[in-house]
Amino acid sequence: MNITESITQTVYDQIANALVEDGYIILENFLPSKLTQQLYQHVSTLPKQQFKPAAIGRNNDRQLNQGIRSDQTRWLSEETPCEQTYLTVMDEYRRQLNQNLFLGLHDYEAHFAHYSAGSYYQRHTDAFKGKSNRVVTTVFYLNPEWTQNDGGELIIYQADSEDVLCRISPQFGTMVIFLSERFPHEVLAATRDRYSIAGWFRIDRQP
Ligand code: OGA
Ligand code: MN
Repeated sequence: MNITESITQTVYDQIANALVEDGYIILENFLPSKLTQQLYQHVSTLPKQQFKPAAIGRNNDRQLNQGIRSDQTRWLSEETPCEQTYLTVMDEYRRQLNQNLFLGLHDYEAHFAHYSAGSYYQRHTDAFKGKSNRVVTTVFYLNPEWTQNDGGELIIYQADSEDVLCRISPQFGTMVIFLSERFPHEVLAATRDRYSIAGWFRIDRQP
């Protein structure tokens, strides 16, 4: 059985329903733990020089989220097996979201993000209404044995508000999915290395 066949229809429905009802969802143990482990091994041993201070978005998304950030990022590609597997899984989610919600998601881009201790990403939004190709944001966490004391929470705010909607600890295997235009969010500083894969399902809107 290949990896996408092991995903149950229930999960796709659950995500589609949550995006319609709430605009976001948090899923624990999103991937088989062996794959999460491989991704963690991989990202935590990549040569430092492959990571760049986060330049933000691509093309017409570039100017959008200039919230101040101090993480380092590296785009995923099909060249490394575990990166390819991740992209394959996410492409299946893209297809399923399109089938359920008619979102017309055209592609998916994702980067590893490394926040060293003390790094952060101030409150920002990943997309401005009607201005960006980014429609749905995904953040997948790769940090084994993360505890409350390690900090590094993702704070999601209510739309157009200072009120906190939820705080997410970047636990190994946790996936957060939300509508890119709707929710301002922020990454708090952690006391240890913090790894994630941030990704965006995009539509084919011309700049
Ligand atoms: C981002 C982002 C959140 C996180 O990269 O745009 O908000 O928890 N990341 O890593
Ligand atoms: Mn963001």
